[in-house]
Parts: sequence; C-alpha cells; structure tokens
Amino acid sequence: MQQNDLFLSPAQADKERFVAMMSATAQAIADSLDHPHAYAGMPPYELRAALRTDELLPEGKITYAELLEEVKAKILPNLVRPMSTDYMAHLHSPALLESIASELIIATFNQSMDSWDQSPAATEIEVEVIRNLCNLYGYGEDADGVFTSGGSQSNLSGLLLARDWFCNEKLNWDVKKYGLPENYRKLRMYSSEIAHFSMEKSSHLMGMGYDAVVKVPVNKAMQMDVAALRELIEKDIAAGNLPFCISATVGTTDFGSIDPLKELRKICDEFGLWLHADAAYGSGVILSQKYADRVAGLADCDSITVDFHKMFLLPISCSASLIKDKKYFEALTLHADYLNREEDEEDGYINLVNKSMQTTRRFDALKVWMSFKMRGKEGWSEIITTCMENAAYFYEQLVKTADVEVITKPEISSVVFRLLPPAGCKEDADTLNKRIRRALLHTKGVVIGQTVVYGNVCLKFTLLNPMQTHQKLDELLSLILSLR
Ligand SMILES: Cc1ncc(COP(=O)(O)O)c(C=O)c1O
Repeated sequence: MQQNDLFLSPAQADKERFVAMMSATAQAIADSLDHPHAYAGMPPYELRAALRTDELLPEGKITYAELLEEVKAKILPNLVRPMSTDYMAHLHSPALLESIASELIIATFNQSMDSWDQSPAATEIEVEVIRNLCNLYGYGEDADGVFTSGGSQSNLSGLLLARDWFCNEKLNWDVKKYGLPENYRKLRMYSSEIAHFSMEKSSHLMGMGYDAVVKVPVNKAMQMDVAALRELIEKDIAAGNLPFCISATVGTTDFGSIDPLKELRKICDEFGLWLHADAAYGSGVILSQKYADRVAGLADCDSITVDFHKMFLLPISCSASLIKDKKYFEALTLHADYLNREEDEEDGYINLVNKSMQTTRRFDALKVWMSFKMRGKEGWSEIITTCMENAAYFYEQLVKTADVEVITKPEISSVVFRLLPPAGCKEDADTLNKRIRRALLHTKGVVIGQTVVYGNVCLKFTLLNPMQTHQKLDELLSLILSLR
C-alpha cells in the first residue's frame, strides 16, 4: 500500500493526521453533549429503524471527516450518558477524564498482556498495580492477581481456583489434569440468594451446574444470614455433599449490602472452605477514609473480585481477580512453545497469561495506574465518600416522604424504594412504579433502575457519580412524585 492512512508512524504527516483525527473526534464528542440529560428519549423501535444499515461495507471509501459526520448524526446523540446526574440505573459509571486519555494510549499502542514480548512496560506496570492493590486490600507477600474483562470473569477465576484447591487438597484429585472428580455432583458453594448471577453462570461453566450453588437467605439488611448458612452447610455435610466455598457479596447488585465477612471467615475455617469475596461493587469503599472499615474483612478472604468499571469510575472494561496465595494460580498455567516459554521465565520474562483465562488481553492496568497517581488518596476518598453520603441523604429524604417504602438503609451507594399508590390512584403499585421508570426514560431523559424485591416492583438509584448533589436528588424525587 502506498499512502499511509492506516497507522500512526514517525513521519510528521502521519503524526499530524493522528492528532487531527483524535481532536476532531474529541470535539465531536464534546459538541454532542448539548443537553444535561442521560438519554435523548427515543424508544426502541424508532431507534432501531433510525440505525438500520444495509451498507455497513460500502463499495468505495469515504473520508474520516465524512464518517465522523455520520457518527455525529446517528450515534452520539442516542448514546446514554453515564456522566449525567440524571443517570443512575445500574452499576455503570461515568469515565474519569484521565482514564479516557488512558484508553487512547491503550488503543494506540495496543499492547497484549499475555506475554512479555508483546507488552514489556505494560506487563511491568500491571505487576506493580497488582502488587499495590494486594497491599491496599490487606494481603501479604504471597498474594497476586491479574486484570480480567469484568466482575463475571473475576468471579469465575476465584471460584475455579477455589474448586481446584478443594479437589486437590481435600479429594486428592487434580481437576486440571483429569477433569471433574467422580463425585462432582456433590460439590457445593454457598452465596446469598441475592448474589450476582455470575455465581450460577460460573458453576455451569465449571461443569457443576446451577444446582451446586446453594442460595442462602438474607436478613432484613440484605446480608447473608450466617445462622441459616451454618444450617445449610451442616445439612449438606450430613447428606454426604462436599461444601468447598462460600462466596460473600461485598456490595450486592441492587442494595449494595455487605455480607458479614468476619463471621463468614470463621465458618470457612471451621468447615475447611475457601472464602471468595465478590466485591465487584464494594471494592471501591476501601478508598473512602471515612468508610473503609466497612470492607476491612476483605483482607481475610482467599480471593477478591475488584471491579474498576463500577465505583472506581474507569471505562469498561477494567477488573481484577486477587488471590491471597499466588500458588493457586497454577490452575490457570499452561505453557505453549509459541508464547510463554519456561526458559524465558527462568530468565525473568514475566508472561501474565500464566494467571489468566484470557490469552490476548488489554492493558487495563494503565487506567488504574494513571487515575490512582493523579487523584491520590485524598481525591479518591472524596469521590467515594461523596457517593456514599449522597445515598445516605437520599435514603433520609425517602424515609420522610409519604407513600414511599424504602427497602433497606444503604451501606454503599444504592437506594431501592417503591412508590405506593396515593389515595384515589387507580393503578396498582407495580404498574405505577414501572410506568414512572419508563416515563422518566423516554420523556425526561432520566435513567433510573428497576428491580423486584419480595415479589414487588421497586425503583433504584445507584449513585456512582460524585457530581450528584443533594439539590438534584431533591429535584429528582419531586419529579418522580409528580408523575404519580
Ligand atoms: C455484585 C456483582 N458481581 C459481579 C458482577 C458482574 O460484573 P461484570 O458486569 O463486570 O461482569 C456484577 C454486575 O453488576 C455485580 O453487581
């Protein structure tokens, strides 16, 4: 090919083209934010029709300027805007400015984290970020971790190491070599009834099926009921089943409730179980100088799922799986002549693929490195504390409001509530709550969550944006009440 419009190169003209394309894109993104709402409002059929394309691969070329015009017209206006304070539906955060810049570096250099020769500095940075994270969560010298594609994969990684550890040490059976043991149908792991569905998905992927996941009831604060857990474990042991792991949730998806880690640790020690912490949501709390003690028990867990694309406000995807004792990563190590040669590793080349389910993998650790360095302990503490205190404030307002039922007091930054039909209202409560969420989405540009608690439809505010204010929360509550 003669003319280089493909890549950045040392040639001055190519550098200028790169900078021009990136700045035009940045300008288009900035210009598209022409209203403060979280969504422009188009309903699904209309949006689908507007975005239908039969010419994804046209006969001839167009210029980047022409392409950008199409992106500006069709796509940018209809994206949800997690940076808006009208956005609070899910554990889905806005992306910090410096982390968007990190993504540009990540994409431009396109390092692949599987082997050192594809990512020399990136490998060393990930190793350093992981070492610092292990310290942050109170792990010792033997700990290690790896970046993953998200909480689901971090959970799968932790649970797989737990299962293989149990089979190796308690059943004298090497799953990595021989597959599941004969009595695999007896393996049991415990998580609360409101734990994330990646528990069941992981169990399926590990060949044990959904039935291996025992659902433990929660108390009124939506935390795992320890007495019920003990009973279930004892019952399983008496029936000849093989409990191997408790998966605690540190920040449940809907409520942000935190399972009692210290008590769960004791149960694990008593029965010889692995304690996994799904802290996909709550891992961010460690950075709040005021509230970090709420997650202090993470230090006692054998594995931890940390998601940076939730409370840490980094772009999707960014997650880590931390393990208290690095020797268990052996379950994921397999040497290939073309990639992670043992002879290179003996000479100090680190191949991170040895700890990972993925082979090709993004340099997501850079986002943590840049953002932690830039904002420091103080900046981070303010971000996390503000989100948590916004939730506490909103909860207090709801409790004072007539015809509103609040499910539980927030431990992190989520508030689940339900509007009750006021006198004279013809709708039942479920219909009322559903209608209001849809009306907010399509007519007000406000995106809030909806879930079901004890069979009742509820609304949910997941407050991950530290720019949210008490005044805005008051306005949103008034708006919701006005739609009844
Ligand atoms: C508690 C919890 N664990 C795990 C996950 C899965 O994380 P991811 O979406 O990053 O795979 C979620 C997602 O919301 C979650 O809420």
